[in-house]
Amino acid sequence: MSDRLKVAMPKGRIYKQASKLFREAGLPIPEEFDDSRKLIIEIPEAGMEFIMAKPVDVPTYVEYGAADVGVVGKDVLMEERRDVYELLDLGIARCRMSVIGLPDRESGHTIKVATKYPNVASQFFRENGQQVEVIKLNGSIELAPLIGLADQIVDMVETGQTIRENGLIELQTIFHITSRLIANRVSFRMKSEAIEDLCRRLQSVIPQAP
Ligand code: PRP
Repeated sequence: MSDRLKVAMPKGRIYKQASKLFREAGLPIPEEFDDSRKLIIEIPEAGMEFIMAKPVDVPTYVEYGAADVGVVGKDVLMEERRDVYELLDLGIARCRMSVIGLPDRESGHTIKVATKYPNVASQFFRENGQQVEVIKLNGSIELAPLIGLADQIVDMVETGQTIRENGLIELQTIFHITSRLIANRVSFRMKSEAIEDLCRRLQSVIPQAP
């Protein structure tokens, strides 16, 4: 096992917030990578290597030990159900998982629900004793009720702009989302010193809930 801590970082919109938090925690993460397309970023000054993964794949890299730790949204953790330790709530990338639909819409006995999160959606409706047919989509989920593919959707709401601009309403919040620091179970023991140091540093700069 190399000494350098391998950190699976989510590419895209969460990366900038995560790298900023790491910098605030005193880790010398160069800003030049915030807009880079490089997939492996070596940061020897921080004793780290960033693996730039698609957010949904971060728990997979961590479970298999290709990364020691990772930064990932609670939405992905709930959906992917990977065998990893959840170490810290980083308090960044705040949003929520919600049930969304068209206003004033009566639903029949079995409703169709479109989502990127089939496990989350199935569990939510099952626990509510509601029979649904879950349809997996990969993006632009808000289209589904607009064109009659589904009655409702389960999706992330951040600013609410997407649902507003498409005439949809939030029917129910399922859970609140923030990014989490996760760890591989073996790395957590073998690299405990480096991981504990990272946790301590991050803990001191986590933004408070508004
Ligand atoms: C996400 C999510 C919503 C939107 C919510 O989509 O699925 O569509 O952001 O953000 P808002 O409340 O600030 O409008 P994303 O941009 O990741 O693209 P996608 O449609 O490809 O999933």
